[in-house]
Amino acid sequence: MKLLLKIWRQDGPKEKGQMVDYNVDGIEGDMSFLEMMDILNSQLIEKGEEPINFDHDCREGICGSCSMFINGEAHGPGRNVTTCQLHMRSFKDGETIFIEPWRAKAFPVIKDLMVDRSAFDRIIQAGGYVSVNTSGNTQDANSIPIPKEDADLAFDAATCIGCGACVATCKNASAMLFTSAKVAQLSLLPQGQVEGKERVINMVNQMDLEGFGNCTNTGACEVECPKGISLDNIARMNREFLSATAKGKK
Ligand code: SF4
Ligand code: FES
Repeated sequence: MKLLLKIWRQDGPKEKGQMVDYNVDGIEGDMSFLEMMDILNSQLIEKGEEPINFDHDCREGICGSCSMFINGEAHGPGRNVTTCQLHMRSFKDGETIFIEPWRAKAFPVIKDLMVDRSAFDRIIQAGGYVSVNTSGNTQDANSIPIPKEDADLAFDAATCIGCGACVATCKNASAMLFTSAKVAQLSLLPQGQVEGKERVINMVNQMDLEGFGNCTNTGACEVECPKGISLDNIARMNREFLSATAKGKK
C-alpha cells in the first residue's frame, strides 16, 4: 500500500504546531499502525530528518500509551482496539490518513503526537488505592466472599488502561469515564469500602482541579474506549459522590 500521512508536528508545548505531509510505500495489511509509523520514522532518520515522536510501550493493548487520533477517531477505526492493535488492512491503498495527538487542556502536547497525561496519575494518587495495614494481621483477600456479579463488574472496570481516549473524544474533555472506572474497581469490592467516601470525593475533586470538563451524557467516550468501559460507571460514581458529600464528608 501507498499512503499519504498528514501528521501533526509540534516542537514543544509552547510551540505552534502544524500538519505535515509524508508519503509511505510498501505498507502491508498485516502491519500494525505503529509498525507503519516505525517505517516512516526509519525513512525520516535515513534522510537526516527528525523522526515523529509518539508514545508506545507494550504494543499489545495493555499499557495505554499509544495515544493517537486517527482520521478523527481516538485509536482510529474499529471498536475495542488500541492504536497498537490496529492493523493497516483497515485502510485502503492510496488513502490519506490524518494523525493527531489527543487534544485536551489537561493533556498538553509534549512533542508531536506525545501528550502529558500525568493528570491521570494525580487523580489516582488522590485516592485510587486501598491503604494496607501491614501490622501482620491483614485479612487474606481470598477469604472474603464476593458475589460473582460484583466481581465481574469490578473486573470490567479494572480493565481501563488509562489511555485517555475518553477525554480526547469527549467534546467537554471530560475524564469521568476514566475516573469512574478507577473508583468502581475498588468500590464494588468489600476491600474497597475502607476509605470509600474519601476516595470518591478526592478523586472527583482532583479531576476538576486538573481542568477536565464535565459529563453531558453524550456517550462518545464509551464508544471510543478501547476496553469497552461502560457509562454505568459514571452513574455509579455520581451516586457515590452525592452520597459521600450529603453525609458532610466534603
Ligand atoms: S475509560 Fe477507556 S478510554 Fe478512558 S482511559 Fe480508560 S481505557 Fe482509555
Ligand atoms: S502500546 Fe501499550 S496499549 Fe498500545
